[in-house]
Amino acid sequence: MGKFQIFTAEEQQSLREAGKILSECLAYIGDLVAPGITTKELDRAAEEFIRRHEGATPAFQGYHGYPATLCTSVNEECVHGLPGDRVLKEGDIIATDCGVMINNLYTDACRTFGVGKISKEAQKLLDVTSNALEAAVAVTRSGVRVGTISATIQDLVEAEGLTIVSALTGHGLGKTLHQFPDVPNYGEKDTGPMLPVGTLIAVEPIVCTGKDGIKETSDLWTINTRDGSLSAHFEHTLLITEEGCEIIA
Ligand code: MF3
Ligand code: CO
Repeated sequence: MGKFQIFTAEEQQSLREAGKILSECLAYIGDLVAPGITTKELDRAAEEFIRRHEGATPAFQGYHGYPATLCTSVNEECVHGLPGDRVLKEGDIIATDCGVMINNLYTDACRTFGVGKISKEAQKLLDVTSNALEAAVAVTRSGVRVGTISATIQDLVEAEGLTIVSALTGHGLGKTLHQFPDVPNYGEKDTGPMLPVGTLIAVEPIVCTGKDGIKETSDLWTINTRDGSLSAHFEHTLLITEEGCEIIA
């Protein structure tokens, strides 16, 4: 079994600062999302936005050799979509996943946006995935076991007839981008590690409209749904407190 990292008051301040920049960055990117823009242009805008803040750096750059600031996962792309020359078109959905680092501490968050007018099916996928994340936030506090968060996400998504992409999980973070514990998007209530006050987790439901399963792609980063169905991804970094949790980003 791993060990939870607990953050000092000073470290928590750095995390809040990083998280604020990250949340603002994702909102800014969301405003830029429109038919005709490329994923590479969004990536450049995110990098410039983060670097305008003294002491803040894009956390994904160089992580296992990752070459960009954002992961831009379009339609059937589930996670780690590599920004490039793809031009967004009306009806697409795009998950923009990003991290900001301050004082060597990592934050990680993702929002999925519609491009122009999107289908009813796509809008439902976005709403359900976002609602699953908010339901998970509502049950997260110290003393809760990770399985309770997992089961909350699974129950909400499955009740809506949608599918958890089970190979992809949330995670602890802080000193590194991915550390103990894993936070799966399916599981059993009241099982798994118990969250202590002052630790940090990234909760990130990744949901698709088809069957569970993933497929790697030729760029070696982008991961797609195996059946080509649409996928959405929302993620918060959460600081665990006595009464609940604080949304860091
Ligand atoms: N939010 C992504 C995750 O938790 C972070 C990807 S970092 C990258 O997997 F370097 F792989 F892009
Ligand atoms: Co993450």
